[in-house]
Amino acid sequence: MTMDINNVETIIDRHGKDEKALIQAMLAVQEEFHYLPEEALKLLSEKLNVPMIRIYQVAAFYKVFRLEPRGKHIITVCNGTACHVRGSNMLVDQVNRVLKIAPGETTEDKEFTLEEVSCLGCCAIAPVLTIDEKKYGNMSVSKVERVIKKSVEKEAVADD
Ligand code: FES
Repeated sequence: MTMDINNVETIIDRHGKDEKALIQAMLAVQEEFHYLPEEALKLLSEKLNVPMIRIYQVAAFYKVFRLEPRGKHIITVCNGTACHVRGSNMLVDQVNRVLKIAPGETTEDKEFTLEEVSCLGCCAIAPVLTIDEKKYGNMSVSKVERVIKKSVEKEAVADD
C-alpha cells in the first residue's frame, strides 16, 4: 500500500497538534493504513512535537497498535482449548494452503493477515474462525476457502 501523506495531515488537523491528541491520532492512522507506517509516525512526531521514542513507547504499551503491515482483512483462528480439541490447527493449515500465509503473516497483496487467539468467548460453537467482524462457528476445513471467498465477494458488492 502506498501511503498518502495527505491523509496523515488530515488526521492531524482533525485531532489537533498537541501531545494529548497522540493516541487518538495514532488510532486514526492505524485505521487508515491497518498499521502504523514509520513515515506517518515521523509526521506525527514533527507536528505534535512528540519524540519518536515516546511514540514507539505508546505503540509498544497498547496491544491495539501494529508496527508491521497488516492485511485489509484479518482472519483469526481461535486456538483455545475448546477450538483446539475440535481441530483448529487444521483450520490454520487450510488457510495456509489457500492463502499461503502462516499465523502472523500477511499475503503479498496485503489483502489478508492470519492471526491466532486463545479464546473468542464463544466456545459452544468451536472451532471458530473470524474474518474481520464476522464469526464462523462449527468451522470445518471444507468451509474455509468458501468463507474467505465470501468475504471478498461481499466487499466487491459493497464497493458497487
Ligand atoms: S476456545 Fe475457541 S472460542 Fe473459546
